[in-house]
Amino acid sequence: MKRLMLSALYLIPLLFTLLSCQKESIQADYQIIPLPQQIQLSADKTPFTLNSQTQILYPAEDKRLQDYAQLLAQYIKTKTHKEIAINTSTDTTNAIILQILPKGINPEGYQLDVNSRHVIINGNSEAGVFYGIQTLRKSLPIAQGGENIILPAVHISDFPYFPYRGAHLDVSRHFFNVNEVKTYIDMMALHNMNTMHWHLTDDQGWRIEIKKYPRLTQIGSKRKETLTGHLNDRPEKYDGKPYKGFYTQEQIKDIVNYAAKNHITIIPEIDLPGHMQAALASYPELGCTGGPYEVWTKWGISENVLCAGSSKTFQFLDDVFDEITQLFPSQYIHIGGDECPKTQWEHCPKCQAFIKKQDIKSDSKYTKEQYLQSFIMKHVTEYLKKKGRKTIGWDEILEGDADSQVTVMSWRGEAAGVNAAQQGHDVIMTPNTVMYFDFYQALDTEKEPLAIGGYIPVEKVYNYDPLPDQLTKTQKKHILGVQSNLWTEYIPDFSHVQYMVLPRWAALAEVQWSNPEQKDYNEFLNRLGGMLKQYQLEKYNYAKHVLNVDATYISNFKTGCTEVALSTLGNAPIHYTLDGSMPTSQSPVYQQAIQINKTSTLQAIAIRPEGNSEIYKQPLYFNKATNKPITLRYPADDKYNGQGCGTLVDGISGNATFGSGKWLGFSNGKDMIATIDLKEKTPITTISLHTCIATGDGVFDAREISVEVSTDGKNYRKIASETCPIPTEHQKVVKQHTLTFPSQPARYVRISAISEKQMPAWSGFPAIPAFIFVDELSVN
Ligand code: ACM
Ligand code: ZN
Repeated sequence: MKRLMLSALYLIPLLFTLLSCQKESIQADYQIIPLPQQIQLSADKTPFTLNSQTQILYPAEDKRLQDYAQLLAQYIKTKTHKEIAINTSTDTTNAIILQILPKGINPEGYQLDVNSRHVIINGNSEAGVFYGIQTLRKSLPIAQGGENIILPAVHISDFPYFPYRGAHLDVSRHFFNVNEVKTYIDMMALHNMNTMHWHLTDDQGWRIEIKKYPRLTQIGSKRKETLTGHLNDRPEKYDGKPYKGFYTQEQIKDIVNYAAKNHITIIPEIDLPGHMQAALASYPELGCTGGPYEVWTKWGISENVLCAGSSKTFQFLDDVFDEITQLFPSQYIHIGGDECPKTQWEHCPKCQAFIKKQDIKSDSKYTKEQYLQSFIMKHVTEYLKKKGRKTIGWDEILEGDADSQVTVMSWRGEAAGVNAAQQGHDVIMTPNTVMYFDFYQALDTEKEPLAIGGYIPVEKVYNYDPLPDQLTKTQKKHILGVQSNLWTEYIPDFSHVQYMVLPRWAALAEVQWSNPEQKDYNEFLNRLGGMLKQYQLEKYNYAKHVLNVDATYISNFKTGCTEVALSTLGNAPIHYTLDGSMPTSQSPVYQQAIQINKTSTLQAIAIRPEGNSEIYKQPLYFNKATNKPITLRYPADDKYNGQGCGTLVDGISGNATFGSGKWLGFSNGKDMIATIDLKEKTPITTISLHTCIATGDGVFDAREISVEVSTDGKNYRKIASETCPIPTEHQKVVKQHTLTFPSQPARYVRISAISEKQMPAWSGFPAIPAFIFVDELSVN
């Protein structure tokens, strides 16, 4: 009896040990980014279990698939901590099989089949296998090593929507080293991109070794200092620190190879005939004036361009492209063509003599200097054609007479791309309205690192349709694809590069790869969480705006309330307070628009197991004008219209960023003339408003502010006004204007802020009307 009891006692810990050895199982999820074309789950079939005995099989002697097998093993290790062997065995049990048996015409297409015995990644070509591997990698859960990974039985059939899926990187304004560029390539592969457009030369630095012209890197890759702050800030400030960097030809070859292993083609850009000041600093005889020139230390468009009338220029370009084509096997070479001022050509005897000699003439559409640019672009295109290459140019290449076979990169919006496709050119869409990832990701830029301007959030990228409606079906075939551009004037380090492209690349990846008929932003947001986890795992820095709480405010004139709608990524609960206390998981959960009818501070937080959002905080100040019916004599500018005229009386004051959406902006000489209906006769004694001033951007203060009152809405009496002095130097401030007067009854209050009609010469915008930005009218 005693012995029995003893053994039973022994059994209890044994049972515990057995139970704790029972491996935890976690499941793969095929709802990835970019979303595959077709995912057919077979819920009734037994899933595949990935464990430490699973092997990756590749065809014997296939070096490329062997590399991919290794890459996949590495991905699995990163994701699950499992060390998986690679092998050429024919025993396909418990295996991930890589193979090429074309089942479709798209070379980048693949099928991923999972059953209880094995996983098969079948590519239409090597590229297809590569993308099948990317899909499997992204589908895997993050694990610690001990778990079984369950892959539900599935048939995935996938291929990309566009053949050209690009990302551009400017390494001239700021330089990124070999490892950083390789990481950029890794990041691209994760997003199924296949083309890196490498902007290697510009006014601020020549970054590629050219053996025949060693001064390009000896001199052209170094600048003595760099502009700090924004290009429009006045006075200009410089950091006083020398800056340099370039890639040797060996490093270039290494990067090109690395990219090829990730199915990424690198298209080099030598930007010409403008954006050449670094080359001119190295070889002044290539410029119209002969110099001296310095590698540029600021941003913008330099007047110093290649002399198009000099045979030395043509020789230089031929020589440079000889070496470029040796280094880059890409079908396309990008030859720039953007932003080339013609002033020096107009005055250069060599350029003018060349124009005469070639019988180049102006016509009703273009100047002879624009045709001179076409001449030089066509020369380079012809030269590269002889080497079996094609050229890409920025959309200015259509000004004058472009070579009929040049591919056009549409950057100044979409119109140039539409025009080019209608003329029969191939087109890559990269409009600055959606695809410039150097633009801000948030409207409220106060907490953002300095950027060039603009506002391109993830949702805007996601909703982009690169096939404009104006094009016919045949013309649409000319749109080869889409690309994001990353100009790096304001992006000094690589972590910041990552911040600017992630997660906007996730949205871009779906524009480039997925079927537009499956597009649904909210559904995309549900899948984005998995991608963000992958970024964390890879230690990529990424912007977290989508995880934060976002708020929109509507002024309800009927109820007198400000209605606040809150949102965040996925279905994380948002908790909020209105009484100034910190929001916690104990605070009320946001369910529907919050109605605010008195001075309050809204604070909110999104709560997630993997970490909470930042605290969102917005004070609202109520006064006699808040949420009262308001009308405007002139509408605000389309781009700066906030939530309509209610933005002026919603209780929220705009901060120092005029583009935050909390200001109304008036352009083209329009004044802000607002009439507020206080709904009943009300004694008033003061009005105030703010103006946001940024003279470097052409945004000036009011010249005059006045108040009129009425009791019947017809007859108005002016009761106060002030004139504001025109500044004599640049300003960047928010200014409060308060007008006080003897108390009087008013039903209607008309507040006018008269804009600057002619900006002063020192502003850089002489004699044209300024913008005026106004917010939060208050009446007391
Ligand atoms: C460009 O953004 N200058 C092409
Ligand atoms: Zn010249």
